[in-house]
Amino acid sequence: MAVRRLAPPELQPKAFAFTAENLAWSKRQIAKYPEGRQQSAVIPLLWRAQEQCGGWLPQKAIEHVAGLLGMPNIRVLEVATFYTMFNLEPIGQFHVQLCGTTPCMLRGSEQLKEICRRRLGEQHHVTVDGKFSWIEVECLAACVNAPMVQINADYYEDLTPESFEKLLDELSAGRTPKPGPQIARQFSAPFGEQITLTDAALYKRTNGAPPGGRSCASDAYVFSASIGVTGTFGPSAPASPAGVRPMRRSGPGRTGTPSALVRGTQSATAADGGTARSASATARARRTASRIPRTAHQGGWWDRPAEIAPRPGADPPNLSG
Ligand code: FES
Repeated sequence: MAVRRLAPPELQPKAFAFTAENLAWSKRQIAKYPEGRQQSAVIPLLWRAQEQCGGWLPQKAIEHVAGLLGMPNIRVLEVATFYTMFNLEPIGQFHVQLCGTTPCMLRGSEQLKEICRRRLGEQHHVTVDGKFSWIEVECLAACVNAPMVQINADYYEDLTPESFEKLLDELSAGRTPKPGPQIARQFSAPFGEQITLTDAALYKRTNGAPPGGRSCASDAYVFSASIGVTGTFGPSAPASPAGVRPMRRSGPGRTGTPSALVRGTQSATAADGGTARSASATARARRTASRIPRTAHQGGWWDRPAEIAPRPGADPPNLSG
């Protein structure tokens, strides 16, 4: 991370003021915050100032925003220098933010950096024709499509040295390349054939639920498989010796969340095992036990350690909808 300083004095404009339109917009933003909290509008106002200045924040713009919000200049400068989305020096018409964080690095961002250096010069400089500037940034949250760059407001992903060079050529020629993955891939969907979770047994239905609908049994099957518990439950599951009915929640075939199931189990454990607790808590635990699929607990799930038991007196999960 480079030190973030204001641009040198020779690049700084002598004055800055919002246009009438931007000033009206700023006042609307400020009015959104409760009395005494108007300073919370600092980021949107700085962003608007940056847009008005062609993509960077001069010192005078920072001071103007500070004046509008009644903040000391230094506080607004702290914000502007902290967030890398604020550019503190002029940028090119196309500002390339190249992600150099680990996933992108492992997938070839170093080669893209070399291309930037060769074609655009060093970071934080604008090319002579004013068209390009570039910087290396931290993760831009598109790691699944690494390596990637952000150019102005668009992401270009799944880059190779060839496609990145072509991208720069297109922009240079005044054309607008299509953002997103630069390979035959839809968004961040798997590229090529599915290679995980391909076992058809994972999707087996055990309760004859209608096609296309999710079922308690299918959800619970996947969940129980993931924790190593075998068993069948759902509307068509065999009744347990105690006659406990399979779990149902409101809505078509919903299942409880894993945590809800575990909490319910613990309530049932306490009820069955006679753990010391108030009579009302035990009654609640019993009510919960009657709503959970006991067949799913065969195999040891019943005996979860007590440290994840619900607090005495806590409401049991509502599994009945
Ligand atoms: S590491 Fe590059 S987008 Fe996350």
